[in-house]
Amino acid sequence: MNKSATDVPLARPGHTSPRLDWPRREPALNALAPLPPPAENHPARGAPLLAGAAQVGPPNRLYHGDNLALMAALVPELAGAIDLIYIDPPFASGGDYVLRSGDSVTRAYSDHWSGGLTGYLDMLRPRLSLMRALLSPTASFYIHLDPTAAHYVKVLLDEIFGRECFQREIIWRIGWVSGYKSAVRNWARNHDTILFYTRDPKTFTFNKEYVPHLPGYSRRGGGEGRGHPIEDVWNANAAEAALTGPESLDSIQIKSFSKEKTGYETQKNESVLRRIIAASSNPGDLVADFFCGSGTTLAVAERLGRRWLGCDSGAPALAVTRQRLLSLETHSAFEVIVLAEPAEQRPAPPEADAVPVCNRTVTAPPSERPEPVEPVPDALWALAQPLLPPEPRRRTGRPPLGARQVLAALLYVRRHGGRWSELPRGYGSAAVIRRRVRAWEEAGVLERLEAAGVAQPRDPTL
Ligand SMILES: C[S@@+](CC[C@H](N)C(=O)[O-])C[C@H]1O[C@@H](n2cnc3c(N)ncnc32)[C@H](O)[C@@H]1O
Repeated sequence: MNKSATDVPLARPGHTSPRLDWPRREPALNALAPLPPPAENHPARGAPLLAGAAQVGPPNRLYHGDNLALMAALVPELAGAIDLIYIDPPFASGGDYVLRSGDSVTRAYSDHWSGGLTGYLDMLRPRLSLMRALLSPTASFYIHLDPTAAHYVKVLLDEIFGRECFQREIIWRIGWVSGYKSAVRNWARNHDTILFYTRDPKTFTFNKEYVPHLPGYSRRGGGEGRGHPIEDVWNANAAEAALTGPESLDSIQIKSFSKEKTGYETQKNESVLRRIIAASSNPGDLVADFFCGSGTTLAVAERLGRRWLGCDSGAPALAVTRQRLLSLETHSAFEVIVLAEPAEQRPAPPEADAVPVCNRTVTAPPSERPEPVEPVPDALWALAQPLLPPEPRRRTGRPPLGARQVLAALLYVRRHGGRWSELPRGYGSAAVIRRRVRAWEEAGVLERLEAAGVAQPRDPTL
């Protein structure tokens, strides 16, 4: 299967799924709010992790920083290249979580969102879109949630992936109920929800798995068969309840002793991740977890011979993950990369303006300052790129005006009331850009951009 990024549609033009709305929902993918531009020395920039499925790539990578800026920076190199993404993001619980190590307790991360659930969905939505853009044509995506937000996220994912790409809602029974959980005057809460989507509804990697039958089981016709096929409710039947030790699916949080425990309060079981990674990827595939916490996904991916990429914004998570990976029996080389701060959070260089242009930061002396341009955010570009026609052939020998620059100008004009005469000089010649935009319009491209939510349907004065 050719996994070249150019074959992969990043957007779903003209989709008609019902959509979840909330006050002040960003128009598209948070797309018109610019993403933090990757800083000049952004380590994700220009260093392809994977140039082809058969190629042995550079070392696995563990990133420390916000996954939004990271994923936006990875899109140019890794769009269509990741075979499996599992994420276990914050659940919108309103809680604070810690790392316990001996007697010390360190705050790991907070799950409070300004605006409550809507703030949480605003955080998640652009990240989910970027993850979809990174998935290979046969890839799978799993998101681990609980009932606080799972149903809202399901609607968002239907919108982003397409309802036809939804595969299963997996109910993971956390384990036995005791203590305060059983004292509740209600049904005792005892499950998490894992939503499973694929990039393509029909063609995706899936290695079917079985649980050993209970002792004494015999099939009609004799023999043991391959075992009990795994259902979409996990850890709730007798065959799975009989699993012990590291194979047990009971949450490690409710086990007093488990060699896996790192002290990270929201750490998930390796047994759950083993199941997902073994079923939905093959050895050598690239597996990513952009909310990696204590590194469960990465440790299991490593053991199962997958390549991996992880990210977490918390220093305690990074420290635990790094140590966990280093203490595996054997591990392949990996790099720990601390993402540079977004450019706007760093002091401006003296006597010069830093003007972010697309993915680069160009520094010009004050005398030649171009007028400010608003670059097309990486996430939005990832959606738009496959909808645009091929670049026109060069007639003059000069390089043609890049489509990203044309799109930036179009967005500027639409955002500022549709007057091409007011397009700042920094965008390039308004006449040339308008010619390209007209050609896009004639080819129906503007309509597709609008349907995909890239451009607002406001008429530019052409
Ligand atoms: C529920 S925990 C993941 C636990 C993990 N599955 C494990 O087994 O240890 C969620 C993680 O997401 C991280 N996180 C939250 N927002 C993030 C962001 N914007 N970028 C990267 N990581 C983020 C938190 O620091 C936290 O470690």
